Amino acid sequence: MTKIRTAVFPVAGLGTRFLPATKAMPKEMLTVVDKPVIQYVVDEAREAGIEHFIFVTGRNKTVIADHFDVQFELEATLSERGKTAELDALRADLPKPGQYSFTRQQEPLGLGHAVWCARHLINDNPFALLLPDMLMPWEPGCLAQMVDMYEQTGGNIISVEEVEKDQVCKYGIVGVGEDVGDGFRVNSMIEKPKPEAAPSNLFISGRYILQPEIMELLGSHERGAGNEIQLTDAMIRLSKEVPFYGYRFPGRSFDCGSKTGFLAANVYYALRRPDIEPEFREILKTVI
Ligand code: G1P
Repeated sequence: MTKIRTAVFPVAGLGTRFLPATKAMPKEMLTVVDKPVIQYVVDEAREAGIEHFIFVTGRNKTVIADHFDVQFELEATLSERGKTAELDALRADLPKPGQYSFTRQQEPLGLGHAVWCARHLINDNPFALLLPDMLMPWEPGCLAQMVDMYEQTGGNIISVEEVEKDQVCKYGIVGVGEDVGDGFRVNSMIEKPKPEAAPSNLFISGRYILQPEIMELLGSHERGAGNEIQLTDAMIRLSKEVPFYGYRFPGRSFDCGSKTGFLAANVYYALRRPDIEPEFREILKTVI
């Protein structure tokens, strides 16, 4: 079985929900405590054994590439001032040379189209896909657990989590078949259904392991919900040929694509930081 060494990060979205913050800055660079959102997701991928990180970007996103590059002047200044802890932390975030690739999605045609833009870079191998809006704090990370499961099952795996019935129309929803290892066989999928059409209350929560055949299906550029090229629609077609499994993420994810999810993520991560938690908890009490 081919190991999962490559991950795709679709980061071309305009981030209109966060205007004016995202007028000149990509939404993936919004900060949760003191790290950009994208750094958390890249760290999760690295922990899962990913060695090649593919970013599908768009206009105004070059700062993401800069973030994962050496910042020579900054490093020199930190070194001169003896700030070794800060310097070590910066260096720990960096990829090894040649591990990162960038390609562009020139038009906002949907998640399926963004993934398809990476087709020449995945090199006909199975790959992981991580939606950077979704922060999924857990140890070991969600993708690492999915990679463990993949080594038993092969096929395709998607992370799922429970959502309130009235929220199913915001997500891809899966139907639950028989148990397989730590997960289950997915027997149906539907993108952004009405509550009465949803096969369960389990939503596709933003981590995927996919076989490369998905690219061919995405290449037909069929439009789905919201007139976008939907990844879920290509997955439905692929599931007729190869199995799809659901992995129930045991933690709770934070949707940083929404203002309240992003704010909740900041509170959650801050309360788990020993250097911030005591003072922050006291301040929170006075604010609430
Ligand atoms: C995308 C996927 C959807 C998934 C969601 C998770 O939707 O199409 O299946 O549940 O991400 O955030 P989007 O948020 O791009 O509308």
